[in-house]
Amino acid sequence: MSKEPLLKLEGLAKHFPIRSGLLGRQVGTVKAVDEVDLDIAAGTTLGLVGESGCGKTTLGRCIVRAHDPTGGRMLYRRPDGSVIDVAGLKEKELKPYRAEVRMIFQDPHSSLNPRKTLREIIGEPMRVHQVGTKEEIDARVGELLERVGLRPEYADRYPHAFSGGQRQRVGIARALALSPRLVVADEAVSALDVSVRAQILNLLMDLQEESDLGFLFVSHDLGIIEHVADVVAVMYLGRVVEQGPTEELYTRPLHPYTEALLSAVPDPDPAAKRHRERIKLLGDIADPAHVPAGCPFNPRCVYARDECRTERPPLREVQGRRVACHFAEELDLRGVPDPDVREVTA
Ligand SMILES: Nc1ncnc2c1ncn2[C@@H]1O[C@H](COP(=O)(O)OP(=O)(O)OP(=O)(O)O)[C@@H](O)[C@H]1O
Ligand SMILES: [Mg+2]
Repeated sequence: MSKEPLLKLEGLAKHFPIRSGLLGRQVGTVKAVDEVDLDIAAGTTLGLVGESGCGKTTLGRCIVRAHDPTGGRMLYRRPDGSVIDVAGLKEKELKPYRAEVRMIFQDPHSSLNPRKTLREIIGEPMRVHQVGTKEEIDARVGELLERVGLRPEYADRYPHAFSGGQRQRVGIARALALSPRLVVADEAVSALDVSVRAQILNLLMDLQEESDLGFLFVSHDLGIIEHVADVVAVMYLGRVVEQGPTEELYTRPLHPYTEALLSAVPDPDPAAKRHRERIKLLGDIADPAHVPAGCPFNPRCVYARDECRTERPPLREVQGRRVACHFAEELDLRGVPDPDVREVTA
């Protein structure tokens, strides 16, 4: 397994203007993604968590260049080992990258063209990138449908004939059509029921093993992330506030926001549950158009002190992990019990 990052984000930003009035004057800025540094290695899964609106989808869309980043670099290691900055590439230079880095979109209703059959939808990336003859593309569509647990005979039906979970699987088949090197999976299995979810997760993990595939796995479900991710990044208001190996981050969080998220993870052990209390988040839900001064999390942080209201903590290395909290060393935060302990006691 190669340890060199497949994709390295440096200071990645995506800001949206807020416009108002007849003239559409800019009255503010939504910093949906702000100065994000992240690495994704081949053959590994980076889990991205954080509450609704924190910028997960925007980050994913920047990675596949469905959005043009406002700033920062996206260093991509090509199959020949050379590294290019895809943040600055022009549309026509992006074609090879677009074949190698694919996204499974969050909303299968709006991302599948209702006027196209599954054969056209799944085969489209292969046609666009001129991979294979018509017969080869048809054969590949059948194979992909089977891999995601759908019948090959469905190929000539239209998306409306399918349930939400089935449509999500069509989106997965489409993302896999070109045998990508990196896949951004945005809530790819959140809408699926437990048995189909397990089947899809197993499929994605098999593909990862077979072809050293890298994943950015976005989910608000910390249970799924714990299951699939090697490394987890926690996002808050467009920034990464904590990042580290999954088990360490889950059992010993260093950022108060991570602790708050983890306190909502259901505990399979009813005895333990009595000892774990839900951690309350103070104040209003965060708004990326009005990022608070100092630490962006301070209005909702139960540990906040004066310094937190005035000085923004940088993302820095603590105990081999990265965290953006002034007091990461002294706070003794609570995570979820070690998975081995949970299994024994469950
Ligand atoms: N095209 C856009 N124009 C303006 N603002 C946008 C646009 N896309 C996203 N935003 C804003 O950027 C912020 C981040 O949105 P994003 O969709 O990335 O969040 P998310 O973390 O994926 O949330 P969820 O968990 O609900 O999917 C939100 O405040 C959103 O309103
Ligand atoms: Mg989203």
